Amino acid sequence: MVEGLTKYTHGGDFADYERLDASDFFNNDHPVNIEIGIGNGEFIESFAQKYPNENFIGFEVMKKIFDKAVKRVGKLETDNVRLIHYDATFFVSILKDESINRFFVNHPDPWPKKRHKKRRLLKTQFIQIMTDKLRKGGELYMSTDNLDYAEEIVENLEGVKSLKCAFDTPYIKELIDYQETKYYRKFAIEGDVHFFKYIKL
Ligand SMILES: C[S@@+](CC[C@H](N)C(=O)[O-])C[C@H]1O[C@@H](n2cnc3c(N)ncnc32)[C@H](O)[C@@H]1O
Repeated sequence: MVEGLTKYTHGGDFADYERLDASDFFNNDHPVNIEIGIGNGEFIESFAQKYPNENFIGFEVMKKIFDKAVKRVGKLETDNVRLIHYDATFFVSILKDESINRFFVNHPDPWPKKRHKKRRLLKTQFIQIMTDKLRKGGELYMSTDNLDYAEEIVENLEGVKSLKCAFDTPYIKELIDYQETKYYRKFAIEGDVHFFKYIKL
């Protein structure tokens, strides 16, 4: 069982699955970026416009929210986004190693209650899986509005190999030029957002 898989995941270590080439979703070999938990889709929409020569795959488990994102992204003039209504942890686990340009995990569900913390997405094992899928020099962006989660991420990162922090501190409170999301707007006003940016060695 992969630690860090969410409650939506059917489990398994996926070792026997054939590896998936994310480029197969597109008709080109442009860099592929992944956003996990796209919410209303405004982040992926904005990055897809900003980087028309890169590809984007977004995952969302909640159907109602996913449908909203599909509507929004459907209006884009570029053809560089694919949205998948499924648990990202499964797909990410079966991707080819060193094939992804950037991962974005913006405000994952905080699961603030003590008994629910084990459901958090950003456990050491899942961060390691994302790291394995990143190309050398690829980037992992994570953000959370929950201080306890931020501190857990810092701890969990200690166990991750081949990843280096892009800042002088494990996280920062403001990331210039980053796209706002619905949850960012909800919490930034109180200065409660923690941004992580790590680079694959
Ligand atoms: C708190 S919301 C944040 C949404 C958006 N990123 C934002 O910042 O506004 C977290 C989202 O992640 C989705 N999610 C949680 N676990 C997921 C998973 N394993 N795969 C895909 N989506 C997931 C939830 O359904 C929810 O929409």
